[in-house]
Amino acid sequence: MDSEQLSGELATILYTEAQLKARLEELAREIEADYPGEPPLLVGVLKGAIMVMADLSRELRFHAQMDWMVVSSYGAGTKSSGVVRILKDLDADITDRDVLIVEDIVESGLTLSWLKENFLSRGARSVKIVTMLRKPELAKVEITVDYVGYDIPPDFVVGYGLDYAEDYRNLRDVAVLAPHMYEKK
Ligand code: IMP
Ligand code: MG
Repeated sequence: MDSEQLSGELATILYTEAQLKARLEELAREIEADYPGEPPLLVGVLKGAIMVMADLSRELRFHAQMDWMVVSSYGAGTKSSGVVRILKDLDADITDRDVLIVEDIVESGLTLSWLKENFLSRGARSVKIVTMLRKPELAKVEITVDYVGYDIPPDFVVGYGLDYAEDYRNLRDVAVLAPHMYEKK
């Protein structure tokens, strides 16, 4: 879905599909350079990371194996709870593997810092993080995010995998939702 079709529901377009793609290409080159030997296992956090995973993995010039986790840290609304529950675990054994967590957005950092510790405790050789977006002003824990697409202001955003009450994930761009949309659900 394109932003024009949703113009009444969006306040601002932050990044277009083309800008997101261009930035992912740059990140892919950095990632390739950092893993000259065995490629890392890409671990996506569903559902938000689907678009980043699809585009980043195809941009990478190495065999990119993928695995997925489902964790719950959010309800249907817009506030982070900080509680992490595994709803779907990895299929792969990550013992002695380099893991690259693929995320849509880092807000508090709570989900990721928990995941990173969890993977290290399972014997991963290394755990790095790539995220398309980050809201530095809302960080609650100190966590190294190795590859960041764009740092954004603390507004709630949708599109490119990011949802509001499960809608807008298929919007091509990243946009700030119009304030009146919050009153509807
Ligand atoms: P955390 O606060 O860093 O743990 O963020 C956890 C999750 O909240 C992210 O992976 C997203 O799925 C979701 N999230 C955070 N900010 C936004 C937003 O602006 N729009 C949509 N989802 C968000
Ligand atoms: Mg997410």
